[in-house]
Amino acid sequence: MGTNQTLVIAHRGAKGEAPENTLGAFRLGLEQGCDAIELDIHLTKDDEIIVIHDSTLDRTTDMTGSIYDMTLEEIKKADAGRWFNEKYEGERIPTLEEVFDLVPADVMINVEIKHSTQGILEPLLLELMKRKDRMHNVVVSAFDYRNLLCLKQLAPETKVGLLYDVNNGSNSALIDSFEAAVYSLHPNYKGIDKEKVSDAIALGLQVYPWTINDESDMAQAIDYGVSGIITDYPGRLRDLLQLA
Ligand code: G3P
Ligand code: CA
Repeated sequence: MGTNQTLVIAHRGAKGEAPENTLGAFRLGLEQGCDAIELDIHLTKDDEIIVIHDSTLDRTTDMTGSIYDMTLEEIKKADAGRWFNEKYEGERIPTLEEVFDLVPADVMINVEIKHSTQGILEPLLLELMKRKDRMHNVVVSAFDYRNLLCLKQLAPETKVGLLYDVNNGSNSALIDSFEAAVYSLHPNYKGIDKEKVSDAIALGLQVYPWTINDESDMAQAIDYGVSGIITDYPGRLRDLLQLA
């Protein structure tokens, strides 16, 4: 086992036990003692930043349709909780601002950009992060690094994390392919090993693998020395770290 320094990062909130990317899921993650929250963002038709994984309402609400074709007012009519459990009936898709207002200032937020185009979302995101005094403890990640480069060009102090699936190349090659400073690596946990993790840590990077739900996989990642674990079950990981 490693140290107790491993951050517990609640994936889309406590996604395993609450409707993902809702205030209810974020509250549950906080109650379970998470150190950080991971969430996904898109822009609505009227350029509001909302917290949802998919680009449609279909899977996680009682409505259907592309969020890019709807205003925030229309999207707020969708129930984002009942599909998961009737206890969560009435949950709404939150704006990122609502999440910033809910989450205590000492809890890190990993904002993953899912919006596939660049140019409009990034300055809006930076304006919100600055207005809410979140620049220091938000890490912005994306699979599409063009979103991250856009942020770095506008505000070089932004903490950005490179998201990727299983990567067979070296950490250095990955970092060198990105033409700005990197704060963290966010690999699929299936592609990590002790050497890759220690090499990244030695390069001064945080390593946040996703999405680890099984206790033995969590224990292995802790042993590898990861900086944090993105999990649907933050309570499970918190318990494991307390036993270590
Ligand atoms: O940020 C890690 C993980 O959330 C990436 O995959 O599909 O769950 O957003 P996904
Ligand atoms: Ca995500």
